[in-house]
Amino acid sequence: MTTPSLLILPGDGIGPEVMAEVRKIIDWMGAKRGLVFDVSEDLVGGAAYDKHGTPLHDDTMAKAQEVDAVLLGAVGGPKYDVLDFSVKPERGLLRLRKEMDLYANLRPAQCFDALSDFSSLKKEVVAGLDIMIIRELTSGVYFGEPRGIKKEGNERVGINTQRYTESEIARVARSAFEMARKRGNKVCSMEKANVMESGILWRDVVQEIHDAEYPDVELSHMYADAGAMQLTRWPKQFDVIVTDNLFGDLLSDLAAMLTGSLGMLPSASLGAPMANGRPKALYEPVHGSAPDIAGQGKANPIACILSFAMALRYSFDMGEEADRVEKAVEKVLADGVRTADLMGPEGGVPVSTSGMGDAIVAALDASL
Ligand code: IPM
Ligand code: MG
Repeated sequence: MTTPSLLILPGDGIGPEVMAEVRKIIDWMGAKRGLVFDVSEDLVGGAAYDKHGTPLHDDTMAKAQEVDAVLLGAVGGPKYDVLDFSVKPERGLLRLRKEMDLYANLRPAQCFDALSDFSSLKKEVVAGLDIMIIRELTSGVYFGEPRGIKKEGNERVGINTQRYTESEIARVARSAFEMARKRGNKVCSMEKANVMESGILWRDVVQEIHDAEYPDVELSHMYADAGAMQLTRWPKQFDVIVTDNLFGDLLSDLAAMLTGSLGMLPSASLGAPMANGRPKALYEPVHGSAPDIAGQGKANPIACILSFAMALRYSFDMGEEADRVEKAVEKVLADGVRTADLMGPEGGVPVSTSGMGDAIVAALDASL
């Protein structure tokens, strides 16, 4: 078997700091489990713009297409707010998603027992929560044409287009049904079929794929606004949620915060299988670049470390090692190790970013 390849794109803000902790886990896998990765590193976002004048160099894009998996930190920062839209850091990330055709974005929202007091919701509402949002990632209003800011008479008009083809809906629906079969066997599809034609098509296609290919999976449909309400009212009613690009962006932030900290949640963006049978894949934390705390050693590296665990599971067929990393994270949290974002009202002394990474490595050692 060839050595699995991994392209690391730390990006901006806290990205490089949290990625340094992932490196420790990767090194541990090599040293203690004999699982060696061919790791390369490159620039994305503002860091790439600073060096190349573009948020994603063509060479980096080409490399991303070749590797087995890409692991990304975060992009963006206030320094880049003044840039033209076409070269903003976020465009680098959107180009990766689009050109790698990563249509299924898996965003788990899981509440760790040790943190069930952290949610803004009552403990009983979130304790044990384990849902998976599958967000369509390569189409919809993020990419639809026409778009732009145009002049109409003597005023400007901002235009974006929500557009979905049947096949785009069908493939992400299949991802959701496949995922549900490995979990609680339940899918809730969310759109706005009451006001949007693309929502009507979305609902129809999801139902058709269900009836033809996955009749064993329990399927329900919900308007996305009602979905947001139900997610805060009683989130444990859900197993897998499948939704479009923009609703998925909003609902996944909402779901993430149910669990108490955005600093905890990983994501996987998957495309079609490559020649070697592995899906095209990019893994990244759900949180952003947090410029306000960048460079201070305060960031929580867990979301990025759990993103690497998702890579172990979905790209490298190393589910047992993924479990090992996830259990190590659970253990350090149960032991009371906390970065600043996880400090409760009772206070205490937070560990640094690298302190959390070291604690997780120690927990991995203890797992052997
Ligand atoms: C996300 C982010 C991105 C998005 C930004 C950074 C382009 O909010 O991954 O959820 O809107 O998709
Ligand atoms: Mg978002």
